[in-house]
Amino acid sequence: MAVQDNINPKQGVILRLKVIHKHYGSLHVLDGIDIELRQQEILTVLGPSGCGKTTLLRIVNGLISYDQGEVLFKGELDVKPRTEMAMVFQNFGLFPWKRLHQNIGYGLRIQRRSPAEIDKIVAHYINLVGLNGFEDNFPAELSGGMQQRAGLARALAAQPELLLMDEPFGALDALTREQLQDELLKINEAEPKTMIFITHSIDEALLLGDRVVLITPRPGRIRLQLETGFGRGRNLEAIRGSVHFQALRHYLWEALRNPNAELGPIPQFSGNLEGPNSDDLRAIRK
Ligand SMILES: Nc1ncnc2c1ncn2[C@@H]1O[C@H](COP(=O)(O)OP(=O)(O)O)[C@@H](O)[C@H]1O
Ligand SMILES: [Mg+2]
Repeated sequence: MAVQDNINPKQGVILRLKVIHKHYGSLHVLDGIDIELRQQEILTVLGPSGCGKTTLLRIVNGLISYDQGEVLFKGELDVKPRTEMAMVFQNFGLFPWKRLHQNIGYGLRIQRRSPAEIDKIVAHYINLVGLNGFEDNFPAELSGGMQQRAGLARALAAQPELLLMDEPFGALDALTREQLQDELLKINEAEPKTMIFITHSIDEALLLGDRVVLITPRPGRIRLQLETGFGRGRNLEAIRGSVHFQALRHYLWEALRNPNAELGPIPQFSGNLEGPNSDDLRAIRK
């Protein structure tokens, strides 16, 4: 496993996965997953289909058990479903028979918050994700992108300490996906959250993550971790055009394509500020 050496823990560790192993019957799914997540970090988990990404997220959330290892959230070991965490799903997970505001307020009703409080929180998150005017619509009346904004609003309305996102933009068309990537980062700047974001897109992992963990094909092992280094307030378009993004993209692509090959050193920022494909940090960090 290659770990970049410039990881600089500015914040405390909120989640610690220690050598997690998981089988479904004889199927070996996760093989010794070790991850530390810091407060307000966006960790993207990248891996091929079937490598155990959803399984890992469910283990973090306490929805399923594991064979060996430890999951420590704020230092505590617990296997019950965790109310401090909220999930966003690829298929949005909205109730088709409930209006948008009812869907978004669902978790709050379960928490037995007062109707006035629920209305206030729901209105705030509807506004934050840009769904004003659609409060009374049913999910089927909205585009996929709008439904996922509602899925995000519902997760955020529960005011979780940890947001777990399972390929949330995987079912969206490319344009909507790029829009939502941008919006997710803007929302996160307005209200910072700690996030685990699962994806099988290299670009998405690099654009959104402060750190990327690459998982091998099943049994899922950590192949490498790298810090993207793009910082906060990042400009995704400038990142896409940067030499550093292209170098990291190529590196991850090679690591995915050749799961057993020895890896070279992780690319570092070139410091080249010239030309159209420059690593101009002033452009990357708005
Ligand atoms: N409840 C289950 N019972 C048995 N096998 C499962 C179950 N859930 C997932 N699997 C299998 O475990 C492997 C990993 O699944 P999953 O975590 O969903 O992978 P990913 O999200 O990376 O695509 C797959 O081969 C899948 O078929
Ligand atoms: Mg999955």
